[in-house]
Amino acid sequence: MEIPLSTASRPPTGSLRGAFPEGFMFGTATSAFQIEGATTEKESGRKPSVWDTFAKEEAGRETGGVNEEGKKFYNDLIDELKANGYASTSTQLTCYHKVYYNAILYAGIEPFVCLFHWDFPQALEDEYGGFMPHRSCHHDPPVVKDFVDYADFCFRTYGDRVKHWITICGPWSYAYSGYGVGTFAPGRGYSLSENQQLLEMSVFPASRHFSLLRLNTRSSFDLDLGDPGREPYTLPNGEVGEIGIILQQMWPIPYSQSKEDQGAAQRAKDFMLGWFMEPLIFGDYPKSMKALVGRRLPKFTPQESRMIKGTYDFIALNYYTANYSVNAPDHSHGKPHVARDSQDHETSWIHEYPEGLLDYLLYVKNKYNDPKIYIAENGIDQYDDPESPLPLWEALSDYKRVSYYNKHLSILKTAIDKYGVKVKGYFTWSLLDNFEWNSSLPPRYGHFYVDYNDNLKRYPKLSAEWFKTHLQKPLPFPPSWTRDEK
Ligand code: BGC
Repeated sequence: MEIPLSTASRPPTGSLRGAFPEGFMFGTATSAFQIEGATTEKESGRKPSVWDTFAKEEAGRETGGVNEEGKKFYNDLIDELKANGYASTSTQLTCYHKVYYNAILYAGIEPFVCLFHWDFPQALEDEYGGFMPHRSCHHDPPVVKDFVDYADFCFRTYGDRVKHWITICGPWSYAYSGYGVGTFAPGRGYSLSENQQLLEMSVFPASRHFSLLRLNTRSSFDLDLGDPGREPYTLPNGEVGEIGIILQQMWPIPYSQSKEDQGAAQRAKDFMLGWFMEPLIFGDYPKSMKALVGRRLPKFTPQESRMIKGTYDFIALNYYTANYSVNAPDHSHGKPHVARDSQDHETSWIHEYPEGLLDYLLYVKNKYNDPKIYIAENGIDQYDDPESPLPLWEALSDYKRVSYYNKHLSILKTAIDKYGVKVKGYFTWSLLDNFEWNSSLPPRYGHFYVDYNDNLKRYPKLSAEWFKTHLQKPLPFPPSWTRDEK
C-alpha cells in the first residue's frame, strides 16, 4: 500500500522519498490470513481455508487471534447493510469490501491487491483437491476455472477503486512447500514415509496450474478488459490499471568459484524464480528443470505456451535473503523428489545481504526482458519466544530492521539510478507482526508490535516512525552502499 504523502509540496531531494524518481511508490504489505484473525465461522462468518485446517491439525495452533476492533468494525457494517435491505451474504461482503477500499483511498493510500496469498478455500480443497492434477479435465482443471471467475469478479466489482492487481503471491512457496514437501498447507507431499512419495508427483502438475491461471485470467480479460502485457488493462469506465504476479528468489551465491557450485547457483535460480518466470517470458520451463525433472515435469502445449507468454504488466519480486549454494550430487538412489531435483543444497533463512538485491534485479532485467518491477516484500524477522517474551521496549527498538531497510533502499536506488532497472515501487514486509505460517516460534516482522496477550493491542516500533518520518520529511539519505562496477 502506498503511504500517503500528506504534505502539499514534495520533499526536496535528500529525503528518502525525494531520492527516488517522481511517482515511485512506497508501502508496506500484509496478507489476509496472517493478520485478520477471526478464524472460525462463528466468529467471522467466513468459511475455513486450507491454512485453518493445517494450522490446527499439523502445527497444533490456531491463527494469530481475533482482532476485536476489526471484528466490531466488520460486524457493525454488516448489521448496517442488513438493516438497509442487503439480504444476501455475498452482497453484504461485496459492499463491505467496497467500503473498505473507499476508506483506504480516502486516507490517501493507493491499494495493491493480491488475489491469492495461500488461503485456498477448504471446501474446494475437499471437493476437487485444490491445485492437484485432475484426471477428468486435464486442460481445464476446476481450480483454473474457479480462479478465473474469482479474478474476473474482483476486477469488475472493485476495479473502479483498485488499479493494481496481483494474481498470486509466491507460487513457488505454495507449490513447493504445500504440494512438494508438505510443510505448508495443504500439507501434501513428502513426509519421509515411503508411501507418501507418490503424492510428491503432484507438485509439478499443481505448479503448472499456477502458470495456467495467468493464461486463463488473461484470456478472460480479452473479452473486454484488455490484455495484460500487450495492451493496458482497461476498465469499462475507461480507466487503466495493471496486473502482475509476485515471484521470489533467495539469492544464491556460489559457495566457491568452482564450476560445480556456480552451476548449483544457476539451478537454484531456475528452480525457484525461473520455474514460474520462464513460462511467462519464454512460454516454457527452464532447461535445467526439464533435464533434471524429466517426465515428472508437465509440458505446455504450443498453444498454451504462446498464450501464456508476456501475460503481465509488471513483475513483483520478494527479496529477503541470500544463501550459499553448493553443488549437491544426486544421492536419491532413483527416488525422485522435488527437494532433490535441483541438485543444489542451500543454507536457509534470512541472512542480511543487500547486495543480493542488486544482483537479483540485474539478473531479472537482463535475462527476462527488462520488466517493470515492484519490490513486493522485503523485511527481516525478530524472534520473540512466547515462553520468555522480549520486554516491550526491546521489541519496539527494532534498530536492526531500520538498518536492514536503509541498506536495501540504498541498493535499490543504485539499481535504478546507475543500472536503469525499472523498479517503480517498494513495499516492506510487514505492516504488523503477524501469523508466520508454519513457524513454531512466532517471529515478528511488523512495523507495529502486536500484543497477543492483550487483545492484539498495537504499538508502533522504531521502524514505523522511521518509515513515516523518512517518507514525509527531508532527512539525509543514508550513505550510499557502494559496490564494484558490474
Ligand atoms: C511470504 C509471507 C511471509 C514472509 C516471511 C514471504 O515470502 O509471502 O507471507 O510472512 O515470506 O516468511
